[in-house]
Amino acid sequence: MNKQEIIQKTSEYAKSTLAGEGSGHDWWHVYRVWKNGVHIGKDEEVDMFIVELACLLHDISDWKFNDGDETVGPKLAREWLQKLDVDENAISHVCDIIKNMSFKGAKTKVTAMQTKEGMVVQDADRLDAIGAIGIGRAFAYGGHINREMYSPDIPPQYHTTSEEYKNAKGPTVNHFYEKLLLLKDLMNTKTAQKIAEKRHTFMERFLDEFLSEWDGRS
Ligand code: ADP
Ligand code: NI
Repeated sequence: MNKQEIIQKTSEYAKSTLAGEGSGHDWWHVYRVWKNGVHIGKDEEVDMFIVELACLLHDISDWKFNDGDETVGPKLAREWLQKLDVDENAISHVCDIIKNMSFKGAKTKVTAMQTKEGMVVQDADRLDAIGAIGIGRAFAYGGHINREMYSPDIPPQYHTTSEEYKNAKGPTVNHFYEKLLLLKDLMNTKTAQKIAEKRHTFMERFLDEFLSEWDGRS
């Protein structure tokens, strides 16, 4: 199987595994991350085979849905790629990227991505958490886990450990302050930074409108 066929097969695998998922990790999230990755990767010196595979497999199984177990995703990805006879170096690289990607709190120590490929994939995923799509995903996910949209009585929390972040119970609007508005400054690549600026401004406008409508001011 050539690389293009491996990517094609992997996209079909991700699509059939994640289609219809309701919490924001559905196939279309993976599709958008894949497209973001291809776009950002064009401006970088990276192995696009690794970038595309890691984008496609990055949410194949998430810690939030495995009682906090962060090892299931990389394990599934490895099994899948071994089935397709992908070489061991590429498999390890893809699995390392998936392991290191997830955001777990504003003040927790973020493990820096080790490779350029990892940086591109992380940016691609983070872009899908901001802007118009990010707003949609946040409210979809908030509803999925029974959160209120907003409560003026509950201030945002800046989590210092990944445990705190995982167990947070605040309303969805708080998530903007706890994560989404922080992502712009965490982008690794110039291309993603530029896209993030635009999406960030849009979220700020959204929050202004939201909060002024809340108080009947507009
Ligand atoms: P990703 O798959 O982009 O790495 P996550 O797995 O952290 O993102 O979360 C999936 C989506 O749900 C993202 O758009 C994220 O912003 C959103 N989300 C995560 N936690 C919350 C929360 N507590 N409230 C609202 N949205 C959330
Ligand atoms: Ni993701």
